Amino acid sequence: MSEHRIPLAGVIGSPIEHSKSPALHGHWLKRYGIKGHYIPMNIGHENLEEALRSLPKMGIVGVNVTIPHKETVLSLADSVTDRAAIIGAANTLTFNGEGKIYADNTDGYGFIENLKQGVPDWNPKAGPAAVLGAGGASRAVIASLLDAGVERILLANRTKARSEALKAEFGARISVFDWVHANTMIAEAATVVNTTALGMEGSAPLNVSLEGLTPETVVTDIVYAPLETEFLKTAREVGCRTVDGLGMLLFQAAPGFERWFGHRPEVDEDLRQAVLSA
Ligand code: ATR
Repeated sequence: MSEHRIPLAGVIGSPIEHSKSPALHGHWLKRYGIKGHYIPMNIGHENLEEALRSLPKMGIVGVNVTIPHKETVLSLADSVTDRAAIIGAANTLTFNGEGKIYADNTDGYGFIENLKQGVPDWNPKAGPAAVLGAGGASRAVIASLLDAGVERILLANRTKARSEALKAEFGARISVFDWVHANTMIAEAATVVNTTALGMEGSAPLNVSLEGLTPETVVTDIVYAPLETEFLKTAREVGCRTVDGLGMLLFQAAPGFERWFGHRPEVDEDLRQAVLSA
């Protein structure tokens, strides 16, 4: 690509209309006065491989990947970061000059950075982290918690086999609990994370007891619509420190933006407002 070409990036998935990524990157492009564009692209399964071959030729320097391609793109990439391989999915692709695809997963990074911004003195060694849910998001959260120095993860999921599968992968640092014993599990934790879809607009709330948690307990949710889920509200009412899920979405976008547009972006209140009002 010529040095003078305006960098183009975007997000691929299907459906794509509800993606917040164009608003997020658009806000940063404007704020930093960067001549570049970030566009949503509706690409279905049948067109994925062809799209990944064509996009670099069209001058696209990289893309975010959303539903339903996050797992599939790994097999189409030329190089995969360790964290994307561990998570088994990619959300950020960068194309080099020859169209080679470099796949990364920044979801775990986004999760931890959000936690650290929300609770600057968060201490991974303060005690176990209780994780609710064992789907794709949970995998990224667990990998990033372990990487950050958490020594023990307590894990409960409605379908226990999925927790057992994560334990088989991540090893002895994971202790599996039955979903019905989630309350007991939470009571032992210094950090509590909801990675399930429960609490999202249109879903049932996450019904767990947070009785007995102390003000030192850090409670976070990866759901961000609504910003304050019932789970976080209850945690706040019992005095815990809480962190909502919006920052995870914002921080996971930063590494891609920096790679594609050459500027390390800030995650702050202006960005939150821009994305919330999009
Ligand atoms: P994601 O990539 O967002 O993690 P996912 O892989 O579909 O999506 O995982 C969704 C998570 O929400 C799972 O932990 C799921 O539990 P199951 O593995 O038992 O399906 C959890 N979840 C969704 N609906 C739920 C419900 N009604 N009660 C309890 N857990 C639920």
